[in-house]
Amino acid sequence: MKKIAVAKGDGIGPEIMDAVLKIFEAAKVPLQYEVVEMGKWVFDKGYSNGMTPEAQQTIEDLGILFKGPMETPKGKGVKSVNVTARKTWNTYANKRTFQTLHGVETVFSKAGIPIDLTIVRENIEDTYGGIEHMLTHDVALSRRFITRPGSMQVIKYAFEMAKKKGARRITCGHKANIMKITDGLFLEVFYEVAKDYPELKADDVIVDDLCMKLVSRPHEFDVVVLTNLQGDIVSDLCAGLVGGLGFAPSANIGDHISIFEAVHGTAPDITGKNIANPTALLLSGVGMLRHLGLMTAAANIENALLYTLESGVHTGDFGDKSTPSVNTTDFAEAIIKNLGKLPDHNPRPVIPDLPMTPTHFKLEQNPLIMTQEKEEEKIVGVDLFIESAEQPNAVADKLLQHTGDLFKLVTISNRGTQVWPKGSVYTNLINQYRCRFESIGEEPVTQIDIMELYKRSMKDFKVCSLELLNMWGDKKAYSLAQGQ
Ligand code: NAI
Repeated sequence: MKKIAVAKGDGIGPEIMDAVLKIFEAAKVPLQYEVVEMGKWVFDKGYSNGMTPEAQQTIEDLGILFKGPMETPKGKGVKSVNVTARKTWNTYANKRTFQTLHGVETVFSKAGIPIDLTIVRENIEDTYGGIEHMLTHDVALSRRFITRPGSMQVIKYAFEMAKKKGARRITCGHKANIMKITDGLFLEVFYEVAKDYPELKADDVIVDDLCMKLVSRPHEFDVVVLTNLQGDIVSDLCAGLVGGLGFAPSANIGDHISIFEAVHGTAPDITGKNIANPTALLLSGVGMLRHLGLMTAAANIENALLYTLESGVHTGDFGDKSTPSVNTTDFAEAIIKNLGKLPDHNPRPVIPDLPMTPTHFKLEQNPLIMTQEKEEEKIVGVDLFIESAEQPNAVADKLLQHTGDLFKLVTISNRGTQVWPKGSVYTNLINQYRCRFESIGEEPVTQIDIMELYKRSMKDFKVCSLELLNMWGDKKAYSLAQGQ
């Protein structure tokens, strides 16, 4: 029998996990569970990543982690156990499904508009790298990494999943109109992958427009793929469409290890009261069963859940307030009693099990994922980020002394808006400028040439950081300043 790792988590975690495992047991799910030590309580025991070495070993040996919510310890410098887990095991795709559940009243259910949406969120990159610096006392910088291989992994997963699901549409949510290089890369990869799936209607929507459309016409969407932060926000918005966090399951999919958990947190306000709603964790578990090929058990449990919800049984966080709510244990018992029954609305077809996913293998070392460089690469300049409380003309006068024979100063910007050679007097300034030097005639320069320019500029300014200006063939690998 396949064994999986289970971490019950903090707060309401143990209450809802026990309820879900009881339902699994009653449904005769052919799985064995190895409970591992992971969560805030493990962090408190002195394990800085929130898990014991034994827990990490077990999860890596078994390849599947079914987890309850875990508290992020408050305080600076302490990382979330949840994010650490997703990153440690490179679960690059976060899949969240949102469906109309009869018995869970929402604005859309009242209007008779069905929702069946899957959000796939990139799970590793973006600003979630947490690479942040104060450049001056007034200026904080977060680095946002969007990579071609990282985007490729998650977008390929989204297309493959959409195809298997028989989706009618796959949409890329993005902000490539503003972040032309980062979101532009994600969008470029989306359409590159789309070519391999001609049977799927692939399109894209700018993320703000997407939010407006999701709250007004959610039924028009099917699978939506987004970068990390935008996906985080949009998926919580979708949870709201189907009745709240109590109904939002999630899967963190990787090539070797996958984690299944509810979207919600530890709910400290209701911990220990046995009143939490286990539905989101149960639906996450159902998704896990399907991931493992256990289709029959998944459909049986989901049908029993849908039947229970339809019959009006509810925990305190949802449902008809004029009928008394039941506690977590009784809600699970009601589902167990309804195993074998079919709901009136959208019964899930009971299909035969698929072959179990092959036993996963352990990696010996980190694989490097990269795409082939096609064009010739050259350095044609540098952006120096300098600290200065002077006016742009005064900054330029000093920098023009340092350009030497190889460089010209082409633009100075403040918070991304050009302030030299031309600019608006209405642009408020902060004490940090981005000063762009380009090589004369776009001739290639070396890193040593750049360092010489850096050293000369240092005589007048503190240089906070720098970025090289690269060209791939005749394409600029950097953005222009607003107004340049
Ligand atoms: P939360 O999701 O724990 O709670 C928000 C609200 O929803 C609360 O009123 C809570 O009572 C309610 N709620 C959540 N799950 C429920 C359920 N199953 N049944 C009934 N009501 C439910 O979010 P919050 O308060 O922001 O976070 C609490 C802790 O959880 C924090 O330490 C946070 O870092 C952590 N967290 C962990 C996550 C994970 O393990 N994946 C995800 C989100 C938060």
